[in-house]
Amino acid sequence: MSYKVAVLPGDGIGPEVMESALKVLNRIEEKFGFKMELIFGLIGGSAYDETGSPLPEETKKICLGADAVLLGSIGGPKWDGLPPEKTPELGGLLALRKMLKLYANLRPAVIYEELRAMSPLSERVLRDKVDILTVRELAHGIYFGEPKELTDTMGLDTMVYTSDQVERIVRKGFEAAQKRGKKLCSVDKANVLSSSKLWRRVVTELAHEYPDVELSHMYVDNAAMQLMLNPLQFDVIVTSNLFGDILSDESAAICGSLGMLPSASLGEEISLFEPSGGSAPDIAGKGIANPIAQILSLAMMLEYSFDLNEAAAAIRSAVDDCVKSGIRTGDILSAGMTAVSTKEMADAIISRI
Ligand code: NAD
Ligand code: IPM
Ligand code: MN
Repeated sequence: MSYKVAVLPGDGIGPEVMESALKVLNRIEEKFGFKMELIFGLIGGSAYDETGSPLPEETKKICLGADAVLLGSIGGPKWDGLPPEKTPELGGLLALRKMLKLYANLRPAVIYEELRAMSPLSERVLRDKVDILTVRELAHGIYFGEPKELTDTMGLDTMVYTSDQVERIVRKGFEAAQKRGKKLCSVDKANVLSSSKLWRRVVTELAHEYPDVELSHMYVDNAAMQLMLNPLQFDVIVTSNLFGDILSDESAAICGSLGMLPSASLGEEISLFEPSGGSAPDIAGKGIANPIAQILSLAMMLEYSFDLNEAAAAIRSAVDDCVKSGIRTGDILSAGMTAVSTKEMADAIISRI
């Protein structure tokens, strides 16, 4: 098996947490006796500064020649004023997702027993373990719909879905639910949006093929509230690109920090793995970011792209153990504890592998 990985650290905390993940990978390689070939590439604002493009040709080539892509994060205030196609978001990350045809974004949010005190939700709400998988459509919807236009006096985005696009992601949702708690909640805005009316029709039709999965539908405004009121009712949430972006950040907050939420973006061939959060400009450069989302994204890569399930499990168990032992970066710190740095957290995880 070939283990060729494109590594794109990106901007802000991206390079800091990537360094941690690569050190973890190093230890995993040693322990499990394999070696991955890492090819580094530029993306986002740092790529723009160096080459004039947020997704340079060289990076495209590196990614297309790899078996998987491990990404840090992109963006930051420095590049916010650029023309849309030059921004780290549209010109970098979204262009890369499009190029790799990544349509299924899996964002697993799990609350660690020891981090319950970090959740903004009360113990009454968190009487059991929150374990929610958001399956977010990633290749279409309002992010990519045409026409898309920005003038001095008008901004235009188009939310469009075809039944094929909906079917593909919803099947991923049903399949994920079959492997987990067998509950699927499809989130839409079918009381208003045509694209959602179509979405709900497709989901309802497909449900007959998955009789073992209990299906519910929820409007997105209610879903945002239900996540707060009773997150335990959810197993798998399947939803469109924009709604999934928003609800997955909310699921991360419920579990304590965005710095803990990994993600896998699956396509037809090459998949991409990245933290769900961003470049965190407010803490970038300080060496205090939580590297766990990046490290768990690495674990998802080992599992989804390379079938190295034991290695992935070893990473997850080391992370669990670290959190249990009270080793915490600032974002998940309880009263009376001292925060560790990004590097210290990574070293603590490595020492447990
Ligand atoms: P953000 O996710 O970067 O940060 C939101 C909050 O979460 C901040 O307070 C930040 O400090 C905190 N946070 C995020 N990751 C953390 C970590 N690992 N450890 C500790 N705290 C963490 O979102 P934002 O501030 O809205 O956006 C900043 C930039 O990141 C923007 O340019 C945005 O477009 C970009 N962004 C990129 C990605 C990506 O690369 N996939 C995702 C989201 C946002
Ligand atoms: C995410 C981010 C991206 C998105 C941005 C940076 C384009 O918020 O990965 O969640 O909206 O998909
Ligand atoms: Mn987001």
